Amino acid sequence: MVSADERREALKGLFHEARNCTRCPQLAQTRHTVVFGGGNANADLMFVGEAPGRNEDERGLPFVGQAGKLLDQLLGEIGLTRNQVFVTNVLRCRPPGNRDPHPVEIENCQEWLFGTIEQVQPTIICTLGNFATKLLRGDPTGIMRIHGRAEERLVGPRRVRLFPVFHPAAALYTPANVEVLRRDFQQIPGLLALGAPEQPPPLVEAPLEVAEAEVVEADAVDEPREPGPPTLAEELEAVVAPAASPPPGGEEPEPEPQGDQLGLF
Ligand code: URA
Repeated sequence: MVSADERREALKGLFHEARNCTRCPQLAQTRHTVVFGGGNANADLMFVGEAPGRNEDERGLPFVGQAGKLLDQLLGEIGLTRNQVFVTNVLRCRPPGNRDPHPVEIENCQEWLFGTIEQVQPTIICTLGNFATKLLRGDPTGIMRIHGRAEERLVGPRRVRLFPVFHPAAALYTPANVEVLRRDFQQIPGLLALGAPEQPPPLVEAPLEVAEAEVVEADAVDEPREPGPPTLAEELEAVVAPAASPPPGGEEPEPEPQGDQLGLF
């Protein structure tokens, strides 16, 4: 069992790797910052949007523009604040002119998204809009047909409650859609109250012979997970508080202003 502190360290390690990513040559050239994601490193609720926009690219934090304001407002209406959830995107770099992510970019960036999900271990992943919904459901069904319907899905090795909703930026253009988004958000407290879905048994490779099986099991049971890279940037250390996932609606102090690119709480 990996502790929340170990997962938090591993998350910071992932951030340090991702911040120099050059897998998408165009995005690596045009971006100002890699927007890794931010929030509560041990959150039960994770939001996955599409890609950073201009404001996010400048500040290095996700959802800090108009769409972010709406997200904050909708969270507030269900008694949550940003520092109780983790927010990230399908892409970590801004596509020039806010164009749609290209399939190859989505594929290149998957390792960072799935790595983030693995370390935060949310019980609910709320996908914002089509790109995140299609990617995490592994299915081309559009958001119009399935928004507001939670379903259990395997994401990597873990079973989560996937909850697709409209993207706040798209909803902003159509007031009626803000109402739909608001109604869908009202389901979130009930989903959080359900707790984590039952997890599948840990994967153990099929043994070819007894001696090998013993080695595999020993690895799976006894080996502690790597706690992350040994060197951590001091400026990150300075802004990262111990992980905690407060109950929905619980009192939470206002976050310190974040000048870093990993707004962890
Ligand atoms: N839209 C997104 O999908 N992500 C952001 O971070 C900001 C706007």
